[in-house]
Amino acid sequence: MTVNDPLMSPFVLKNLTLRNRIVSTSHEPAYSEDGLPKDRYRAYHVEKARGGVGLTMIGGSALVSRDSAPAFGNLQLWKDEAEPLLRRLADEVHEQGAAVMTQLTHLGHRTSNYTDNWLPAISASNVREPAHRAFAKAAEQWDLDRVLRDFVDVAQRCRSAGLDGIELMAYGHFLDSFWTPFWNHRDDEYGGSYENRMRYPLRVIRAVREAVGPEFVIGARMTFDEEREGGLETHEALRIAADITEAGIDFISLIKGSIGTDADLARAIAPMSTPASPHLEFAGRIKQKLSVPVMHAARISDVATARYAIEEGLLDLVGMTRALMADPELPNKVRDGHTDRIRPCVGANMCIDGIYGSGAAFCIHNPSTGREREVPQRIEVARTTRRVAVVGAGPAGLEASRVLAERGHAVRLFEAADKVGGQLLLASMAPRRRDLRGIIDWRTDELARLGVPISLNTYVDGRTLLEQPWDVVIVATGGTPATPRIPGAGLVHDTWDVLAGTRRLRGRVMVYDDHGGNQALDAAEALVREGATVEIVTPERTLSPDVGSLTASGYFHSLAENGVAVTVLRRLHGVSKTPDGLAVELGVDGFAFREHRIFDAIVAEMGTDPVQELYDELLDSSTNLGAVDLADLLARKPQSVVRNEAGSFRLFRIGDAVASRNVHAAMLDAARLCRTI
Ligand SMILES: Cc1cc2nc3c(=O)[nH]c(=O)nc-3n(C[C@H](O)[C@H](O)[C@H](O)COP(=O)(O)O)c2cc1C
Ligand code: SF4
Repeated sequence: MTVNDPLMSPFVLKNLTLRNRIVSTSHEPAYSEDGLPKDRYRAYHVEKARGGVGLTMIGGSALVSRDSAPAFGNLQLWKDEAEPLLRRLADEVHEQGAAVMTQLTHLGHRTSNYTDNWLPAISASNVREPAHRAFAKAAEQWDLDRVLRDFVDVAQRCRSAGLDGIELMAYGHFLDSFWTPFWNHRDDEYGGSYENRMRYPLRVIRAVREAVGPEFVIGARMTFDEEREGGLETHEALRIAADITEAGIDFISLIKGSIGTDADLARAIAPMSTPASPHLEFAGRIKQKLSVPVMHAARISDVATARYAIEEGLLDLVGMTRALMADPELPNKVRDGHTDRIRPCVGANMCIDGIYGSGAAFCIHNPSTGREREVPQRIEVARTTRRVAVVGAGPAGLEASRVLAERGHAVRLFEAADKVGGQLLLASMAPRRRDLRGIIDWRTDELARLGVPISLNTYVDGRTLLEQPWDVVIVATGGTPATPRIPGAGLVHDTWDVLAGTRRLRGRVMVYDDHGGNQALDAAEALVREGATVEIVTPERTLSPDVGSLTASGYFHSLAENGVAVTVLRRLHGVSKTPDGLAVELGVDGFAFREHRIFDAIVAEMGTDPVQELYDELLDSSTNLGAVDLADLLARKPQSVVRNEAGSFRLFRIGDAVASRNVHAAMLDAARLCRTI
């Protein structure tokens, strides 16, 4: 540890002493079960506490009212069953030396009308938030009264359950829909003047303070500049901060910006390729004008910046939320002087995108986060050492080698190319995704530390591999670009050529996306940079359905700026050469409709085909013939399938060598399997 490391210095927040300045700010990873903080939720936060965090905030947008429909797996703390679960969670986090609070909210307009109990969404006015799309009812007096009571009841519940405090969510939700002129269009005593707009939120804060008593910590998360026309500006936000402090707020979690559209949210939870710590200096300036402690989180992913923020007095507490999802051990590693071993948050935003997409926040390269019980963060040393060959050093092979080496096995990693990284390396060639390199670099460093030999430029076939005795062989040979099965397929390029820069295409280029991920978008951007006129054509009914909304907004902005046309609902049926260029035949799935268009070049993204020659070659010599006992795999039990007594080793394949999937799936394949070997 750096001597007198400011980041590791304790902080006194009212009557609470936090052991260091690192905070996991309120966020909803959608790990709730029945709207409750059950085992999965608890395990996630207890792991952060074990990792050394000072304060972990649970319940991002935890709900106080039954008409606030969960929009992204939120906790429903209005449910009576929540209290014992909160108590257990608080006790277990405390045992690990961290403090724990929860955010409380009524989502207001930030939800859907078509989920949970289908009760109508409410807001200060009858507005519609583009991101969640509910048409909200303007709250009536009886709504205001009951929501106030709900805030009071749930705040009391949190205090009785032993939480160290609560944070009232006031940016983009119900409470602040009153104070921001952007959402409040009322003409009654709750709208218009500053005093009127503050009337309801101040009533709520005072009532909560009165109910929980003077000692319990209450914070507010609010924006100091909505950065949109007609929105809250800094001078008024400062006045709000002063007034809510007087009403009983003990700390401010400081935000810049707003969250009503995907693009707004992507600025608050900024993805890779955007500047680091974008609002830190702003936060520092605002802090000078506030009388309560300030915490702030926004892409402060590295320890040096976090330390700087504390050292320079820009913040009292530094949120490193996604950084802690990528590596919950981050604070302990700082404490122990192992900052070089921190698994970096690369800003892939699979976490935040996942709460809307896959249904939970998963970290692109930490498959244990959110799966703490099935794939524990800490890797146990195996009882018996095995000789393991891992073939292929893409994400799956790198992660497999790392986990196996941590378990104490004798691992050797073979890679046919002259570098490790596989498809990740290719993906990181897109300027927008260059930070993906961090995933490779961290593993490369870890493998060096663990002493795993890596044989580069080594193409292994079954015969050469079996010249040495192995107990286990893991085939992680990845995939190669799949080509469309259509007449004229030979005239079509793949996105790998474009991304690697081996094919420079100009003129009218059609990027055909029958995959739905980042690849086609990256290729389109690369082609635009080369001067091509690009049109993305897809058989899907939306563009890039597997690219989450926060990641997509950056692409969509650049596509618009560069005049990239998009055509949905068109499947490619054939390509042929004509004197004018390449004629493509397009159709709509399920219908006889056909149209013909002319382009100068076609680039297709169809996912990958598995590279499985080695696997096929090795099958007959293996004991399990490649079979996996899936029940045992999921139960984290060793594999015991024997289908060939004459075999001499167990054979597994992982990642895209199985089927075309994403980085996280490849990592999970590896992490899960190798914890059982
Ligand atoms: C999966 C996920 C869910 C989030 N949910 C909430 C939320 O419910 N309420 C909130 O105030 N912030 C939420 N956040 C924002 C975080 O608290 C934090 O401000 C943001 O991640 C930026 O900080 P970081 O760069 O340290 O991650 C969420 C973030 C993530 C990644
Ligand atoms: S998915 Fe990306 S942004 Fe989210 S925690 Fe992991 S590395 Fe960070």
